[in-house]
Amino acid sequence: MKNILEAPFVEEMKKITANMYRQGWDERNGGNISYMLDEKDVAEYLDLNNVIRTIPSGFDATELTGRIFIVTGTGKYFKNVQDDPENNLGIIRVAKDGTTMELLWGYSDGGRFTSELPAHLMSHMARLSVDPENRIIMHCHPTYTLAMNYVHELDEKKLTHTLWETCTECMVVFPDGIGVLPWMLCGTNEIGEATAEKMKEFRLVVWGLHGIYGAGKDIDEAFGLIETVEKAAQLYMISAHLPRINTISDKELQIIAEGFGVKYRKDFLDL
Ligand code: 13P
Ligand code: ZN
Repeated sequence: MKNILEAPFVEEMKKITANMYRQGWDERNGGNISYMLDEKDVAEYLDLNNVIRTIPSGFDATELTGRIFIVTGTGKYFKNVQDDPENNLGIIRVAKDGTTMELLWGYSDGGRFTSELPAHLMSHMARLSVDPENRIIMHCHPTYTLAMNYVHELDEKKLTHTLWETCTECMVVFPDGIGVLPWMLCGTNEIGEATAEKMKEFRLVVWGLHGIYGAGKDIDEAFGLIETVEKAAQLYMISAHLPRINTISDKELQIIAEGFGVKYRKDFLDL
């Protein structure tokens, strides 16, 4: 059996949590990540018959029975993952009943998966239903995106449009736009269900006055989506109070989408 601490997926989780912490998006225990793994990859490092303990999730994820995820721990700091992955991360498998998680590795101080597991696993189900390649759900509190929540309307079309017109790359990176939820209590099944509903349509979902969710086939895709939104939000926040002289027009946004051949939310433009 190979050393789990050298597994590529543990390495990826160490690198991305450290990177996100350095961006300032994951203060204290802010943010969480779940990454769906291939059973055969995990079997190289862990005895899949050895369940360390079982943890009830409080919601039904029968659709994901047998699926294995590496997930950040609740209350754990992203900045500490690199030095102590076994305590700050866990590898869990969805049990047959769909509501129990089988711990295969990690959470070594007796901890458990993120309080946002409902939003993560329900979002995995939603994304997999429209994109079988999806593997990652990522949540964080990016500074400018969050600042923008306080000064910009929390409306999917308006928020997406403002970000698209702020930065030429935005239309190319997230032509499908951004879903928006109003402020809701986090850590609940309700916010999980609402997030998953949006995830059927969007790879990005803003949690009003809280943060953002990104989804992707790999860590680069989910991170890149959030990073691009955050860059555009930064440009917006440092320029919105100044007189606007130039902007990317809706006609130009259409030219970008057609030039790059991306399928975009036409209803988010006024042509
Ligand atoms: P956890 O520590 O439970 O992952 O929660 C952090 C967070 O960002 C809540 O939305
Ligand atoms: Zn959060």
